[in-house]
Amino acid sequence: MNYNIAVLGGDGIGPEVTQQAKKVLDKIADKYQHQFNYTEALMGACAIDEIGNPLPSETVEICLNSDAVLFGAIGDPKYDNDPSAKVRPEQGLLALRKALELFANIRPVECYPSLIDKAPLKAEIIKGTDFVIYRELTGGIYFGEKHLSEDQSFASDLCGYHQYEIERIAHLAFKAAQTRRNKVTLVDKANVLESSRLWRKVVKEVACHYPGVILDFLFVDNAAMQMVLNPSQFDVVLTENMFGDILSDEGSVIGGSIGLLASASVGNKGALFEPIHGSYPQAKGLDIANPIASILSAAMLLEHLNLQEEALSIRNSVMQSLEAKVVTKDLDADSTYGTEAVGAHILSLI
Ligand code: IPM
Ligand code: MN
Repeated sequence: MNYNIAVLGGDGIGPEVTQQAKKVLDKIADKYQHQFNYTEALMGACAIDEIGNPLPSETVEICLNSDAVLFGAIGDPKYDNDPSAKVRPEQGLLALRKALELFANIRPVECYPSLIDKAPLKAEIIKGTDFVIYRELTGGIYFGEKHLSEDQSFASDLCGYHQYEIERIAHLAFKAAQTRRNKVTLVDKANVLESSRLWRKVVKEVACHYPGVILDFLFVDNAAMQMVLNPSQFDVVLTENMFGDILSDEGSVIGGSIGLLASASVGNKGALFEPIHGSYPQAKGLDIANPIASILSAAMLLEHLNLQEEALSIRNSVMQSLEAKVVTKDLDADSTYGTEAVGAHILSLI
């Protein structure tokens, strides 16, 4: 089959890890007789530098006309420490999520047996962990009205949710649970926030359509603690935008490195696949970034295209590479393998 893939390398280590994912996809294309037509496009700081806009309209067009988007990372320190910057790289990603209506961000968290002793948490705690975070991605405090008073002494960000925004991601979370261990945990702050109380009400109603799935609730502060105390209790974690952002970074330590976590964003007008790690600008061009999160994002992309066997072939190769300890320094301080070498090794195993 023939597929059109938009490739947005983005900033920092984004382009170099995406390059490895593309090579892996090309190997898959070779082996299974597919053709992936890539169209590269700009988004983030690189787009600001080149044309003054973090999300050029041409990029949106390319993404809307593709079967999937493979994205690297976004962000540059020159904007992080400038609170008065009017244009920011992150605006590009947020606007793209809106333009493609990518309302569900899916972030699987797994404990890899071969890394269990490398992870910062104790082996007996993380053993058997296998959950997935369903993070709402186009609503909440990220997109609510922003305000800065004229004298700049007061600022606010509004967190609002419509019922339909909660319903549509809740359905996806329950459907996912049906293919897993039949449990959804809604993470909220319903003891304080009105928006969280709406989430509870709506999610309870959605749950009635899935009688085989158990629904439970955790306040986000408790959930943050449970995630490092007893992560194997989770199956599907459903939550709003900001809580999901924070909890998914926390969850990444269970796998041993944030460099392993891939994610899929799906919705009405497209699908985008990206590592959850950031642009890690200090590592740019040094050949030390872990390419696995990007390579596993490519596997999620294939699953989205319903190329299950192809995706499995990537996952197995990643697993073998981890077992053989062909990993970057974030997973083994003594390793001499760089980004390219790890990518090449995974590719050779396909
Ligand atoms: C993520 C990132 C983004 C977010 C940033 C870059 C806007 O942290 O995808 O988790 O906060 O959603
Ligand atoms: Mn984040």
